[in-house]
Amino acid sequence: MKLTDFINIAKLRVDQLLRDYLIEQPQPATILKKTIAYAALNSGKQIRPLFVYLTNHAFEGAWENADAAACAIELIHIYSLIHDDLPAMDNSDLRRGVPSCHKVHGDAMAILAGDALQPLACELIATYPSALTAEQRIHMIQIISRASGIHGMAAGQALDLTGMQTLSALTEMYQLKTGALLSASVQLGAISANIADSSTLLALQKFAQCIGLAFQIQDDLLDIQGEVHLTGKPKGIDSLNAKATYPTLIGIDASQQKIQELFAAAFNAIHFLGAQGQLLREFANELLQRKK
Ligand code: IPE
Ligand code: IPE
Ligand code: MG
Ligand code: MG
Ligand code: MG
Repeated sequence: MKLTDFINIAKLRVDQLLRDYLIEQPQPATILKKTIAYAALNSGKQIRPLFVYLTNHAFEGAWENADAAACAIELIHIYSLIHDDLPAMDNSDLRRGVPSCHKVHGDAMAILAGDALQPLACELIATYPSALTAEQRIHMIQIISRASGIHGMAAGQALDLTGMQTLSALTEMYQLKTGALLSASVQLGAISANIADSSTLLALQKFAQCIGLAFQIQDDLLDIQGEVHLTGKPKGIDSLNAKATYPTLIGIDASQQKIQELFAAAFNAIHFLGAQGQLLREFANELLQRKK
């Protein structure tokens, strides 16, 4: 299958599932439903779900077994973006090319949208009909919870707010705020394809951690050099918030060099997948060139 066809199928599946759970199923609070739909149903790149499906594909898994995990990780990611943009955090007014969630629905509703998306992610994995066993579902919930909470994204976001002085502290913070969810994505994809051995999961984690760190350095560069009509985010937010970033600590050229090195290390880590890893590699290669 061609990568573009694969991506189209994957995105259709995620969009359908998001629509089912966020719009079609009845909910008691219409205002919360509207807030969540506003933040979730738009032009996100869906990189994390794509990593779930591509990893599932690399191990010849069934699409149906990856659906819940793909959607769940995107729900966690969307929640992280809603909260990240709040005035108490990055105070950013534009997301995915439209006013940030809190600018339209208010801070309180934006906070609650995040609160509601987190348990929904776990509910989906626990209950979504598929051939996954109870043991696989528990493993997935464990991975997603650990990657989003005090050992993962939330910890990274907390450290981000305290300001990082050294490159190693900044690197560790990036691994947490961005790397952890990407690492969870490939592990979820593997589990959905009935892979559970720890050495395979570790190799995939290594791949995703390299991509995750590179992805965040690219994000830093896009904050300086990106085009708003492509990124859908304001430019210069990091300098406005006086954030130390890779480019501020080591410069633009060294940041670009680091991205190249990290992608090379990432490709190395999944060498063992052979021909079955072709689409995963192609997708990573596309990310390397990303402008949004
Ligand atoms: C933005 O993530 C936040 C970071 C971790 C850098 P994405 O660039 O994946 O955002 P969307 O989902 O496409 O909007
Ligand atoms: C990643 O960092 C944020 C999350 C983990 C949600 P940023 O704050 O740089 O992400 P953007 O630039 O707002 O998307
Ligand atoms: Mg932030
Ligand atoms: Mg931000
Ligand atoms: Mg950023």
